[in-house]
Amino acid sequence: MPALAPIRLGINVDHVATLRNARGGKHPDPLKAAEIAIAAGADGITAHLREDRRHIVDEDVVRLKAHLKRPLNLEMAATPEMVEIACKLHPHAACIVPERRTERTTEGGLDVAGQREALRAAVGRLAGAGIRVSLFIAAEAVQIAAASAIGAPVIEIHTGAWCDALVAGDVTAAAAEFDRIVRGAALAAEAGLEVHAGHGLDFVSAEKIATLPEIVELNIGHFLIGEAVFEGLGDAIRHMRTAMDRGRGRAAGQKS
Ligand code: PXP
Repeated sequence: MPALAPIRLGINVDHVATLRNARGGKHPDPLKAAEIAIAAGADGITAHLREDRRHIVDEDVVRLKAHLKRPLNLEMAATPEMVEIACKLHPHAACIVPERRTERTTEGGLDVAGQREALRAAVGRLAGAGIRVSLFIAAEAVQIAAASAIGAPVIEIHTGAWCDALVAGDVTAAAAEFDRIVRGAALAAEAGLEVHAGHGLDFVSAEKIATLPEIVELNIGHFLIGEAVFEGLGDAIRHMRTAMDRGRGRAAGQKS
């Protein structure tokens, strides 16, 4: 039995910028948070440069790219402006997300099947610039097939609906959502896609999703930045790493 691929942890520092922007000025600095995250075991840093610049701003992504010793994953809408910025910035990866100005966070997955041509062009342009592109989608067969058809090498499965059901204590909905993720991850891996996951994950959900062998990366932000208020960012990330590794270890045990 081949060994399970290790699971990577990407830390999303958007909400460090949210806090900074609440007062203006420079504190707390997302770059400092990113450096602490890496020292605590993060494999990479994620930042979402939204069209309205509500948290991360252009200068943040330039500083993150210039100073980080680990890969930067730029979350972005597939707009001409963002594609230009990404091609100039040249992050390790770009995760294309849907964006609506009125939403509080990225509420759903991309409709890849409904926007194939526009997304194919954006994926092609980013990939041509040497950036590893992922598409943030729900774990639905039609979206997975479309992502593969337009040449994206990676998908990130939106785990928000599952995590919401877990937090609400809706056991039936949570089981149905998790089952959807399990099937989606398997389908995507069969299609040759690398599979990531993220949105709404906490210690419990991250440990559980780490048991899925197809998923090789989790991107986590809000919960950990919130936990940092109580236990400090470094410790929160170390706890997350431990939870994920425990889940992965369980999966390896089940496989052998
Ligand atoms: N992955 C993607 C593509 C996202 O858009 C987000 C939210 O910005 C996350 C992961 C992280 O979600 P959360 O902040 O809920 O952990």
